[in-house]
Amino acid sequence: MITHPAYVVEPWCLRERELNLDVLSQSESVFALANGHVGWRGNLDEGEPHGLPGTYLNGVFEFRPLPYAEAGYGYPESGQTVINVTNGKLIRLLVDDEPFDLRYGRLHRHERVLDFRTGLLHRMAEWTSPSGRSVRVRSTRLVSFTQRAIAAIAYEVEPLDGDVRIVIQSELVANEQLPDHGGDPRTAAQLKDPLLPEQHAAQGSRIRLLHCTARSKLKVAVSADHVVDGPPKTETSAESVDDLSRLTITSRLTSGQRLRVEKFVAHGWSAVRSVPAVHDQVDAALAGATSTGWAGLLAEQRQFLDEFWARADVEVDGDAEIQQAVRFALFHVLQAGARGEARALPAKGLTGPGYDGHCFWDTESFVLPVLTYTAPQAVEQALRWRHSTMPAAQERARQLGLKGAAFPWRTINGDECSAYWPAGTAAFHVNADIADAVVRYVGATADDTFEREVGLPLLVETARLWRSLGHHDHHGDFHIDGVTGPDEYSAISDDNLYTNLMAQHNLRAAAAAVERHPEVASALGVDDEETAAWRDAALRINLPYNAELGVHEQSAGFTGHQVWDFARTNDDQYPLMLNFPYFDLYRKQVVKQADLVLAMVLRGDAFTLEQKARNFAYYEQLTVRDSSLSACTQATMAAEVGHLRLAYDYLGEAAMMDLFDLEGNTRDGLHIASLAGSWFALVMGFGGMRDHDGGVVAFAPRLPEQLGRLAFTVQIRDRRLRVEITGTTATYTLLEGADLEIRHCGEQLTVSTAAPESREVPELAAGPVPEQPPGRSPARRRATRREEAESGHVAHG
Ligand code: BGC
Repeated sequence: MITHPAYVVEPWCLRERELNLDVLSQSESVFALANGHVGWRGNLDEGEPHGLPGTYLNGVFEFRPLPYAEAGYGYPESGQTVINVTNGKLIRLLVDDEPFDLRYGRLHRHERVLDFRTGLLHRMAEWTSPSGRSVRVRSTRLVSFTQRAIAAIAYEVEPLDGDVRIVIQSELVANEQLPDHGGDPRTAAQLKDPLLPEQHAAQGSRIRLLHCTARSKLKVAVSADHVVDGPPKTETSAESVDDLSRLTITSRLTSGQRLRVEKFVAHGWSAVRSVPAVHDQVDAALAGATSTGWAGLLAEQRQFLDEFWARADVEVDGDAEIQQAVRFALFHVLQAGARGEARALPAKGLTGPGYDGHCFWDTESFVLPVLTYTAPQAVEQALRWRHSTMPAAQERARQLGLKGAAFPWRTINGDECSAYWPAGTAAFHVNADIADAVVRYVGATADDTFEREVGLPLLVETARLWRSLGHHDHHGDFHIDGVTGPDEYSAISDDNLYTNLMAQHNLRAAAAAVERHPEVASALGVDDEETAAWRDAALRINLPYNAELGVHEQSAGFTGHQVWDFARTNDDQYPLMLNFPYFDLYRKQVVKQADLVLAMVLRGDAFTLEQKARNFAYYEQLTVRDSSLSACTQATMAAEVGHLRLAYDYLGEAAMMDLFDLEGNTRDGLHIASLAGSWFALVMGFGGMRDHDGGVVAFAPRLPEQLGRLAFTVQIRDRRLRVEITGTTATYTLLEGADLEIRHCGEQLTVSTAAPESREVPELAAGPVPEQPPGRSPARRRATRREEAESGHVAHG
């Protein structure tokens, strides 16, 4: 992608200087616009050529069968898949008698720019039709952060060489034909014509389509209104049928004249409301947008983003690619969550149909930590969604013979959709990940109302789950057996260390929250005996350790397994899960993605620095990174134990996951958690930020040689704190709010708005650089200065 010469490295935008059909699907993902409620892939305005057309509404899905060769108790009965809803992006153009189709005629210039500060996607094309007519087309698109149902386009055509007859068809299209995507199991199941027509309308400049999904029974409405500005005799007419509603605009343009169309599109859906109510809902949203007007929507968008960047920006000196990538990442993470409003935050956000549009633990463990410190209201909403699915999670726990709530491994509406137990519900850690996100959000915001209404019930029900899932042995030690940790190349293991440490945190946090809110807790049926049992389980939880090797075990017995034969595994046999049977992966020492290493990041308080360094070195040799969630975690731990160059290389992998299309599936949507991971690697890695202490945030900054300066802003309990690291000095500036306690490399510090505090970073002696399995080291984007000097040339980057 940005390695392609068409892409330019710039600090505040993603620019593509020519249209490249080879990377069209990928470009549709990276240029996607969304606000957490509506998602528009970056498809070309005229609809074709396309890689994968996509318009998504968060929460709109269809059921699909989950076929099982052998039946089993507790298997989910049906799956869910995100569907491509009515497309409001389409603006088709006829130039004299030829469709504006970039596959024909001559394209002289084509540029697209996604601007992270304005939240706009700009496009400019200069084209000569096969019969020799030349036009310039400009369009600007937005999906509004401030009016969540709204997206809008300003589209302009002008002739470049004399008179031309122009016809614009501004459309809403349902049940678009989707290209077949091959056999990748991670790609959304194709559902043909998922929308059944209910109502269509076209009147004046307004068009509308209303449909219903066949099995999930969701009503989906999209309506659009237009402001047309063209020379006299510009005419419009509107028409609609079941799956198409269209405004046609005809005009004749002479040199110097332009035809401009502003299209406002409102989206709405409901499982409950009637057809007239849903149609009123979108028409009302549309009325709000048209009264705001195009300029008003732009101004609102800019203001929203100005406020976001003031809380969230990360500045990087010394690596222009990383600077661009981290802002690209933050922009997309914000787009995934900003206006989700009590809906799930899918692994791909609303940028593509990958993973069927499901939400996983990725959200709580990777995306919400970033949003907690940059856009906390989005976290509140995401966790309110989890809470709203509590009845399904309680029912699932009951079905499994457990207490409390068992949240699903993957889902859209709250019901478990994973058809594969070992890497599905058995990954019970998702419950502790949710609890961890609750604790972090409450620590970072002191949002008491949230804690009482949402946080406490989530903590209590997940604590109950752990208590019933685990057991005390005859010595009194507490074990959680038969579960899968984050590493999906080990399954159904006993005492997965990550799970146990996160469960311990969950049990303790639940007991502490009960003390803060005794009345709410007693309404939930919690008594002293129950909290004592949670504390006891937490105290006695088993943390497997191999004393001979001096390392923790990923799960009981793990270090005794045979080591995977890496030497005999070829580069083209990764990802291993597509080339080797799971049973063989399960019984060997090979790690798909950071598991114990993630435990050392999120539960860093449970390890000494020496243990971290030894564990990290051991698990590095086994970790193949067949998941995009791994590199950012490894970057963060490598930085903590002093392997800064390695951390820098992992940062590159996490940050470039989609911009370089490193996993080859960016076409299906962006890896939102890996994007969040570039913030992890910079802020938690090189900034050394940790929040183990329920609110007191600690920093232990350390820069790699490649970065001259790193600065970032985080929001903590209504304060804005800016951290700037240059060389071996860290400066903490409180930009806003009352005095704040923090820690710098173990030292307690109070920062106030009166003056910044600067501190030196003590040296850290790191041991030998750990090795990865052969061929699995992170790519080295840039040589060190010493390597450059030795080789006599400056490396790429
Ligand atoms: C990873 C999971 C992750 C899922 C969705 C899988 O490949 O192993 O940890 O939740 O992708 O991103």
